[in-house]
Amino acid sequence: MATTASDPFASRAKSILSELESKGEMKHLQTIEGPMDATVRLKMPDGSIKEAVCLCSNNYLGLANHPEVVEAGIKGLEKYGAGTASVRFICGTFDCHHQIEDRIAKLLDQEASYTFVSCWNATEALLPTLAEPGDAIVSDALNHACIIDSIRLAGVIKKGVRKYIYPNNDMGAFEDKLKAAREEASDDSVIWVITDGVFSMEGSIAELKTMRELCDKYGALLIVDDSHGTGVMGETGRGTHEHYGMAGSEIDLFTGTLGKALGGGAGGYIAGPKHAIDLIVQRGRPTLFSNALPATVACSADKAIEILMREPERVAKLKENCRYAREKIKAIGLEVIESPTAICPVIVGETSKAISMSARLLEMGVYVIGFGYPVVPEGEARLRCQISAAHEKSHIDQLVDALAKL
Ligand SMILES: Cc1ncc(COP(=O)(O)O)c(C=O)c1O
Repeated sequence: MATTASDPFASRAKSILSELESKGEMKHLQTIEGPMDATVRLKMPDGSIKEAVCLCSNNYLGLANHPEVVEAGIKGLEKYGAGTASVRFICGTFDCHHQIEDRIAKLLDQEASYTFVSCWNATEALLPTLAEPGDAIVSDALNHACIIDSIRLAGVIKKGVRKYIYPNNDMGAFEDKLKAAREEASDDSVIWVITDGVFSMEGSIAELKTMRELCDKYGALLIVDDSHGTGVMGETGRGTHEHYGMAGSEIDLFTGTLGKALGGGAGGYIAGPKHAIDLIVQRGRPTLFSNALPATVACSADKAIEILMREPERVAKLKENCRYAREKIKAIGLEVIESPTAICPVIVGETSKAISMSARLLEMGVYVIGFGYPVVPEGEARLRCQISAAHEKSHIDQLVDALAKL
């Protein structure tokens, strides 16, 4: 084994890590023993178990440990075994894949959908497959990292794909970029507009109605990654478009995750017109070279979507919890970004401050993570509180009491 002195990578890695540690910016992975729910059992470094209210998971509908969802996963495991042992186009397409893909398409009012092992994978398949040289991609500056990387990859794989970035939710700048993209595009090239439905660090939402109008004006296609919106936004949890009173069919393509409101297991999808999904199946590199969504997850997530569609009262409870949490946080004098989403970020400033505050909250039995640079801009570190339908008001009171004590 080489010594650190003669191993430039080891010395570089160790120097980065010790700098993070000395600045108080090191992330320490917290271990959970037991299921994800309103409260979780945390395994502390000394081996003890601490029960804490969980306000940092994406388990928005409380379905991650729902008995029917768990049972569907177990039945899937019994019926299909541990996995497909194949990519989809070889021998990895099982009937449970068709079942969940039909259900996703129905949920989002689209012709078809296709699943992946994560939304990251789905997004990586999307733009590098569908965009061609001469096309333009117009993207919000605060879009999720998977969108940013998908755009970069499209630019590498399909040389000549142009990108246009506008400041978060600035519709004037958005129109300027769209106009420029249209003027610079040839008649047969495509303009792709892509946005998060819910911006994951802000908890704010994209102005989808205005974006649809402008996309129509300039002949662009609108893609929405509604990973934090599906199951959460709109009266029946269809997503951010439903919040605006829009039908799913008014969005050209969706991407989303199965790892948040829809059971919380893992997996992602693209939903859209059949020709787009067919092209992804034929040409997407993650589709052709990476394994299928495990059958167990396909079954549990399928059940989670079925429950979402039959129990809109879960969405209503989540909404009431979100309203209550914002009202209470504001009442103790803290600033929380106003929005109808389940993400309530409390901005605290420096990364080290957010991390130390999160540790003190945990001592008080409240599990909230501090997010700092590079996940959010320098100086805008925050405690991201995430609300769930699994919470009772007493859980939210516990959060607010602990924040007040801080
Ligand atoms: C907006 C958005 N898109 C995509 C993802 C990635 O989802 P997955 O965990 O399924 O890869 C996330 C997860 O944080 C997200 O917030």
